[in-house]
Amino acid sequence: MNQKNLRVLSGSSNRPLAEAICKQLGLEISRMTLRRFSDGEVRVKIEESMRGMDAFIIQSTSAPVNEHVMELLIILDALRRASVERCTVVMPYYGYARQDKKVKPREPITARLVADLLTLAGANRILALDLHADQIQGFFNIPVDHLYGSPLIGDYLRSREIRGDQVVVVSPDEGGVKRAQSLAQQLDSGLAIIHKRRPEPNRSEVVSVVGEVVGRTCILVDDIIDTGGSIVGAAEALRQRGAARILVVATHGVLSGPAVHRLDTSLSIEQIIITDTIQHPRAELTGKFQTLSVSGLLGEAIRRIHLGESVSELFDPYL
Ligand code: R5P
Repeated sequence: MNQKNLRVLSGSSNRPLAEAICKQLGLEISRMTLRRFSDGEVRVKIEESMRGMDAFIIQSTSAPVNEHVMELLIILDALRRASVERCTVVMPYYGYARQDKKVKPREPITARLVADLLTLAGANRILALDLHADQIQGFFNIPVDHLYGSPLIGDYLRSREIRGDQVVVVSPDEGGVKRAQSLAQQLDSGLAIIHKRRPEPNRSEVVSVVGEVVGRTCILVDDIIDTGGSIVGAAEALRQRGAARILVVATHGVLSGPAVHRLDTSLSIEQIIITDTIQHPRAELTGKFQTLSVSGLLGEAIRRIHLGESVSELFDPYL
C-alpha cells in the first residue's frame, strides 16, 4: 500500500484500539501532545507535519463524553490549520447517537448537533460503526462510511457452533430488528422480537415477546449496553418464557453505572459478548465478558478509504 501520505492520530478515548489498527496498517500513530491547562481546557499540539496528508483521527466519544467530543473537535481544528489534505474522523462509538429525534416537545437533536460540530471543525468524512440509527448518516453533509459489527459477532458465534434452528436471535426492541435479522441470517437461526416500552431514558419494561424461544439458545443482540437495565430485563423475560440459554451480544459496551455488576450477577445471562469500540481495562470486566476486536475491520476500512477502494464490500453480503 502507498502509505506515503497516510497518517493516523489517536484521541485519548481508546488508544489501545488505535494502536491495534496501526499495527494492522503497518504504521505508527502520529505524534501529538494532548494536555490539559490547569482549568481543564484541552491543549493539542501535533508534533509532525500534516501538510498534504490523508489523516484519520480515531476517537470514540465515550465517557467522559463531552471531554472526548471537545478533544476531537480541537484535534480537527489543529489538523485543518496544519493544511491537511483530507481528514476522516473514525468514530468506533458515536456518543450522543441515541438523541437522534425529538421524542417530546422542546427536546434537542443532539446527534445532529454533534454532526454539525464535527463538520464545522474540519471533518471531510466519517467512518462509523453500528450507529444507533442508520439515518444518522443523513445528519452529515459529508460522506459517511457506516460499518456493521454483526459479521464479526456472527463469525465468533459460528466458531463456537452456536447456530442453526435451536438458536433464536432476539431483538430487545422494534428498532433493532434489522440488526437481529442480519445476525439470524448468518447463523441460519430463528428470530424473535421483544416489545418493550421505555417510560424514561435508561429504564425499559418488557410488554411481550414475539417468536419461539422455549427450549432455545437465545442470542439477545443490541447496539449499546449502557446501564444494562434493558438487556437484563429482556433476558429475564426470555428466561420466564422458557429460554434454555441466553447470551448477550452488543457492539458498544458503554457499561456505565451499575452495568457490569448487573450483568455479572444476572442468573439469566450466560455470557456477554461486546467489542472494543469503547475501552475498558480488563480488570473492570469479569470472566463473563468476552471482548472481540474491531481493529481488523476498521484497519481494512481505513486502507480502502485511503486507496479509494470500495468499503461496502466489507459488509454487503450481510445487509
Ligand atoms: C436504546 O435504544 C439502545 O439500543 C439500548 O437498548 C440502550 O441504550 C441500552 O441502555 P441501558 O443498557 O441503559 O438499558
